[in-house]
Amino acid sequence: MTATRTMGYGMIAKLLHWSMAVLILISLCAIEFKDFFPKGALRHAVVAWHFQMGLCVLILIGVRITWRIKNPAPPIFPSLSKMQSLAATTAHVALYALMLILPILGVLTRQSRGNDVDFFGHVLPAILDEDSGLPYALKIKSLHTYLGDVLMWLIAVHMLIAIFHHMVRRDNTLSRMLP
Ligand code: HEM
Ligand code: HEM
Repeated sequence: MTATRTMGYGMIAKLLHWSMAVLILISLCAIEFKDFFPKGALRHAVVAWHFQMGLCVLILIGVRITWRIKNPAPPIFPSLSKMQSLAATTAHVALYALMLILPILGVLTRQSRGNDVDFFGHVLPAILDEDSGLPYALKIKSLHTYLGDVLMWLIAVHMLIAIFHHMVRRDNTLSRMLP
């Protein structure tokens, strides 16, 4: 292994981490702040950004999980206790799971109400139509919204912990992930 490899995450891992962070933040801002926009075409376009960015996350998460399985994380110096490593791994697995599940639930939320899901001009095939999905529409939407809130909190904690590692513990956790 080369020195650079042992020091930090590889270029692909960093690219996936930061591009997906941006996509998720745009998607979340679009849906959380949609009410600031007047009803009509503009608000519609803002909400469409939530869908489009979320679908990009769905495409990239497959690549990211495959890449991660094949490429172990670089070591942290000074090293973490077993409990700290376990907590970090649990949080990372939860982040990966939510990045996979949320866009799927989002698609099902739309389709269960009989709405098309458009991805940059291509209508996705329907897994649920209004007939089969309507009885579950409210539950799917609540689950999507609830897990979306869980992801937001998890991201906030994840960011604070990254800053804590850098500023207080003064280890290389954050610098391994920086471009
Ligand atoms: C990373 C991916 C995603 C995240 C983190 C996410 C998160 C959220 C959150 C937090 C809300 C609730 C907003 C609020 O009312 O406070 C929401 C609503 C919603 N999301 Fe997503 N979402 C994602 C992807 C998608 C996708 C791909 C679709 C559909 C193609 C979708 C469709 C919806 C719909 C229909 C709502 C309800 C909007 C409304 O109340 O009218 N989401 N999402
Ligand atoms: C939407 C926002 C974000 C998501 C979904 C996210 C997700 C993730 C995931 C899943 C990992 C695990 C990588 C692995 O498997 O080794 C990770 C690592 C990391 N993230 Fe984020 N991240 C986000 C934003 C941020 C931000 C804003 C920061 C900086 C303040 C940050 C700093 C880090 C660091 C330092 C690591 C390496 C942690 C370690 O190896 O123990 N992330 N991130």
